[in-house]
Amino acid sequence: MIRVPLAALVCLAASTAAAVNVVDLSDATWTLTGGDAISVPGKVPSHVHLDLLASQVIEDPYFGLNDFNLRWVALANWSYTAQLSGLSTEGDISTYLLFNGLDTFADIQLCSQPVASTNNQFRQYFFDVTDILSGCDTTSPELKVVFGSAPAIAEDIANQPGQETWPWPVEILFEFPNRQFIRKEQSDFGWDWGPAFAPAGIWQKAWALQLGRGEVFVRNSLLDLYREGQLNNLLPDQTANWMLNASVDVIGTVPEGASLTFRIVDLETQEEAGSGSLVNITNDGDVITGSSTLGAGDYKLWWPTGLGPQSLYNITIDIVSESGEVLTSVTKRTGFRTIVLNMDVVSDEEISKGVAPGNHWHFEINGQPFYAKGSNFIPPDAFWPRVTPAKIRQLFSSAVAANQNMLRVWSSGAYSPDFMYDIADEMGILLWSEFEYGDALYPVDPEFLENSRLEAVYQVRRVNHHPSLALWAGGNELELIISFLATVADPDTFNRYVSEYETLFLDTLLPAVYGNSRSISYIPSSTTNGYLSINFSNPIPVVPRYSNVTPGSIYGDTDHYNYDPSQAFSLSSYPVGRFADEFGFHSMPSINSWRQAVAEEDLSFNSSTVVLRNHHYPPGGLNTTNFSNASKGMGEMTVAVELYYPAPHKADPAANFSAWCHATQVFQADFYKSQIQFYRAGSGRPERQLGSLYWQLEDIWQAPTWAGIEYDGRWKVLHNVAKDIYQSVIVAPQWNETSGILQVYAVSDLWDEVQGKASLGWVGWDGTIVSLDAADGESGDVDFTIGPLNATLLATLNITELTSSASLNAADVVFVANLTASGKMPNTEATKTFTHTNWFTPTPLSTAALVDPKLSITHDSDTNEFVVTAEEGTSIWTWVSLEDSDADEVIVAFDENGFLLKKGEERRIGYSILSDSGDVAGWEDRVGVSSIWDNSLP
Ligand SMILES: *[C@@H]1O[C@H](CO)[C@@H](O)[C@H](O)[C@H]1NC(C)=O
Ligand SMILES: *[C@@H]1O[C@H](CO)[C@@H](O)[C@H](O)[C@H]1NC(C)=O
Ligand SMILES: *[C@@H]1O[C@H](CO)[C@@H](O)[C@H](O)[C@H]1NC(C)=O
Ligand SMILES: *[C@@H]1O[C@H](CO)[C@@H](O)[C@H](O)[C@H]1NC(C)=O
Ligand SMILES: *[C@@H]1O[C@H](CO)[C@@H](O)[C@H](O)[C@H]1NC(C)=O
Ligand SMILES: *[C@@H]1O[C@H](CO)[C@@H](O)[C@H](O)[C@H]1NC(C)=O
Repeated sequence: MIRVPLAALVCLAASTAAAVNVVDLSDATWTLTGGDAISVPGKVPSHVHLDLLASQVIEDPYFGLNDFNLRWVALANWSYTAQLSGLSTEGDISTYLLFNGLDTFADIQLCSQPVASTNNQFRQYFFDVTDILSGCDTTSPELKVVFGSAPAIAEDIANQPGQETWPWPVEILFEFPNRQFIRKEQSDFGWDWGPAFAPAGIWQKAWALQLGRGEVFVRNSLLDLYREGQLNNLLPDQTANWMLNASVDVIGTVPEGASLTFRIVDLETQEEAGSGSLVNITNDGDVITGSSTLGAGDYKLWWPTGLGPQSLYNITIDIVSESGEVLTSVTKRTGFRTIVLNMDVVSDEEISKGVAPGNHWHFEINGQPFYAKGSNFIPPDAFWPRVTPAKIRQLFSSAVAANQNMLRVWSSGAYSPDFMYDIADEMGILLWSEFEYGDALYPVDPEFLENSRLEAVYQVRRVNHHPSLALWAGGNELELIISFLATVADPDTFNRYVSEYETLFLDTLLPAVYGNSRSISYIPSSTTNGYLSINFSNPIPVVPRYSNVTPGSIYGDTDHYNYDPSQAFSLSSYPVGRFADEFGFHSMPSINSWRQAVAEEDLSFNSSTVVLRNHHYPPGGLNTTNFSNASKGMGEMTVAVELYYPAPHKADPAANFSAWCHATQVFQADFYKSQIQFYRAGSGRPERQLGSLYWQLEDIWQAPTWAGIEYDGRWKVLHNVAKDIYQSVIVAPQWNETSGILQVYAVSDLWDEVQGKASLGWVGWDGTIVSLDAADGESGDVDFTIGPLNATLLATLNITELTSSASLNAADVVFVANLTASGKMPNTEATKTFTHTNWFTPTPLSTAALVDPKLSITHDSDTNEFVVTAEEGTSIWTWVSLEDSDADEVIVAFDENGFLLKKGEERRIGYSILSDSGDVAGWEDRVGVSSIWDNSLP
């Protein structure tokens, strides 16, 4: 799955005569043994669960309550065994084993001799086995990799004498405890959106290598492109030359006197765009490094989607011996861009433009601040070996289709494979990347720290060349834990906690980034108030701010969850910060997803299978004695639906379940939309808010979660609504329930001024246009101009006053805003027209006097569009979907969904097919349409 060594292989074959003998361990015949005398074929890369599933020893781990039932797999030890072939025993050669990933506690043996033991899922390991091999009495020696149970070993480590303990909530516990003691995907031990399989196996590619004297093999490499003089976290001079720093990690020894050359190919023109020798060569034998200056304006810039083109270049680095022979070479695809997380002090000039004092917290691409629109990416599967490039491509296409330019790759899964960065490079999605630590404090003994350091150095070097790499963060929600502890721990204990946090996340991980990359910013924790100071003459340049804040000033990014649904639309409950990196609420997946994982008789809100797949337990965890508190999450969703929408009460149980699932999705989408438009309008308020990444892009399995995309790729209501509200120019009504005032904003994230017109007015649910006195500013047309990355207030309405007047009965009407504007997309010349419609209802829809809008839908086969009309009323949360929910053979994303449709209006909707299983003819005839009014149908 990892591109780098493979690319290196190709180049090796092409460029050196005496080729390294490379035996791909995926080609060996593996046997998996363990558990209760189980012996089945195994694979590399794979996980034990996947191999047991392939041999039908276990059923689908994702089905029913197998998450709990298969705990025995995680608690057993397992061995992968293969006879290696293709190894030579002739001549002066050295033999190595190279593993790109072992998950996690592995004892490696070659012809019954111990090779090594490993304890970090995220490190690359290689071992010289020359001596062991020479003692083997066979040319096809047995390689055996024995995996110990990660939960059992984690428990042993936790129980070691003198081992540290932390109280809740320092260690947020999900299913298996003690995850913080081991370097394994933290969500493998359970999370509130996922199962706990704690899988084991050789989860990444592995090889046996044989090198002759003087031969080298590239195991990892680093390319760093930055502006001359650039320092991490600080804005560089955009007119400065580019610097190229290249560093190649090899197995074998780079001979003395070796040098490095480079060649750059423009992948658009396929023409050479630079070449030469690197200077300032340092050669440590196992790593050789050099650099070069490149012309400031000689390369096309790479931009995120929506902000410009994604220009890419190949850079090939050759290691050349003193006599001029190319020893090996490595090619990486990269792009020229600078990306900085600006946490600098707000200037007086900015304050004079209305920006609150304090520090910034936003990203700048090639020197341009931009609005980061996106979501959080979690592991797309509990078993990474079955995550394919096609799966990532589908997810990322959905993100781009939904106007998202940044994903935060959450920190307690796994480091992203190169193919994921490659796809992001092509599509222009920025990947905020994180080290794999979250919601805990971690040990700080020297061994743990060194293990963590080696992991970080390997990963930073592996992926640094990707232009989509936006940031490195130490871990998830760590500073929030520190802030919480400040309020509860005694001073000595608190100081110990802070010191542990800084030892790992500042003293260990920061140098791993700064020591290998000048181009990427680092923050110790995903949500952070940033730094008090940054000074590169200090060994650790950053002094964290924590709660050292000045009243009236604004710092940092925000993380917001509120599970009291009555507060969902209260703007005053939302955090005011510079950037929102996490926020959300869970919803049910559609019945289609449930049917993939749950028996038909379990399709109800109260079935124990459905309830126990909801892992949003109360603080302190699930009571496994009687499961009495298991339904907390189900209760929150139910209350939310009943508060805000007509609640479904269908006679048919499956139809009722389906309608309820959908209703929870409507609430989720409604809540996120309310927050996203609040954050975006903040770009024009003192907080100068410049980012919204909701929790979470996609699902790891079929369960109630915070996702906008279900496990099979299907879009929930949320993903459609995110697409709508992440358009560049939007109209955003913001109702303050405390003051009763509705403010209507026009918001733009374009880099040029936008001009346009908004029409604001009230429409009855029965379709009548309610005319009020336009002179009061309550309806009519408003002309506006929005500055670059800014927002403009269009109208202020006193809803309390309006709805107490005789002419406007709150239950009967919806406020509708239509915007048309023209402006230029960044890095383009042509003027584009933008349109957007938004609404506000002065009472919750649960108490509104909704009428049957008499929706109809037809398929226009000439234009291949669906045509939706509402003949007798206003349709809200209009939802287009495939009606026969048994049929999973085609998954369609409609260009627009979850929208408002006025009486008599005709809406034409295109679509794209996300996946189909072949014979899908005629699905267009099964597309139906509903609205929230349908909930009131029996
Ligand atoms: C090489 O090193 C010298 C001395 O440190 C430095 O001035 C120069 O900028 C370096 N050149 C490159 C291309 O890194
Ligand atoms: C760029 O590099 C990749 C990976 O090594 C290679 O497959 C591709 O052919 C190269 N493209 C050009 C135009 O050199
Ligand atoms: C946003 O627009 C307002 C109104 O034109 C203006 O006063 C303000 O300075 C702008 N904000 C920034 C940061 O430019
Ligand atoms: C809502 O209005 C109240 C009362 O006027 C005010 O205190 C509060 O700051 C407002 N909230 C927001 C988010 O504007
Ligand atoms: C779990 O439920 C049992 C039985 O009602 C109760 O005795 C116990 O205190 C509960 N445990 C927790 C952690 O709430
Ligand atoms: C809105 O109208 C109500 C009722 O007329 C009035 O009491 C209130 O003061 C008004 N609010 C504002 C902010 O003008």
